Amino acid sequence: MLRRLINACECQQFAFDMWNRLVQTMLIERMYGIDRIARNFSRPESGIFGAIISYLLKKANLPSERNAVKHLDVRPNHTVLEIGFGLGYGIQHVLDIIKEGDGSVHGLDISDEMVRRTARRFQKEIKDKKVNICIGDVASMPYEDNTFDRVFHTNSCFYWPDMDEAAKEIYRVMRKDSVMVTIVMPDELNMAVKKGALKYGDPDQTRYIDALRKNNFVDVQVQDFYDAEDCLYPWYQATFAYAKKK
Ligand SMILES: C[S@@+](CC[C@H](N)C(=O)[O-])C[C@H]1O[C@@H](n2cnc3c(N)ncnc32)[C@H](O)[C@@H]1O
Repeated sequence: MLRRLINACECQQFAFDMWNRLVQTMLIERMYGIDRIARNFSRPESGIFGAIISYLLKKANLPSERNAVKHLDVRPNHTVLEIGFGLGYGIQHVLDIIKEGDGSVHGLDISDEMVRRTARRFQKEIKDKKVNICIGDVASMPYEDNTFDRVFHTNSCFYWPDMDEAAKEIYRVMRKDSVMVTIVMPDELNMAVKKGALKYGDPDQTRYIDALRKNNFVDVQVQDFYDAEDCLYPWYQATFAYAKKK
């Protein structure tokens, strides 16, 4: 009788331990997963987490790339730069406009994985010198002064650690009277903050706007727009900033 009671207690303890271990593992997995996803948003890597991020970027962010190019008013002879191009959809939108002209589109991203994927996608256009893809940090870009007629970036500036350096550097590579457009989707941003996916970024847009104003950009304005065409987040904000150099 006593033996049976001991056995039953041991069994219960065993089941209880197993349950605890399972819950702990699930919690660690969950935290680790969110952490890896947050890190991959700031700089996508290869492997399973890079694949998840690519899927999420494709699902949620395509409209912001399309709208950035729409507001940029790109002409076929323009030299255009996208910073933090991710999967390269913005580059494709620009290419559609400049392909019949003398223009070119350049992309800079800090992630090896995004550079590798996008360079593979535009192999022919890179050979034809219509597209140029390069790895690098916005705070120190490998371009000559006064190179670009248009610059844009979407969902990337939250991850730039030194906003002043970034603003100075972007201003340096922009031509006189050129314009930069930035798109963010506030509802997506709020959701990402709530889920912990912006752990490696800073969603505060005033940091970006202040740095632009401080570093010679003029007419810096934020405007609200709605786009319901296959958009998970129809509300987006476009920031316009001009480099009116002498
Ligand atoms: C969340 S993804 C957005 C990608 C794409 N623009 C979109 O909207 O889907 C952020 C991108 O910015 C790039 N990035 C982050 N910090 C950067 C930096 N300091 N310089 C250049 N690119 C950067 C990342 O590698 C990543 O591709």
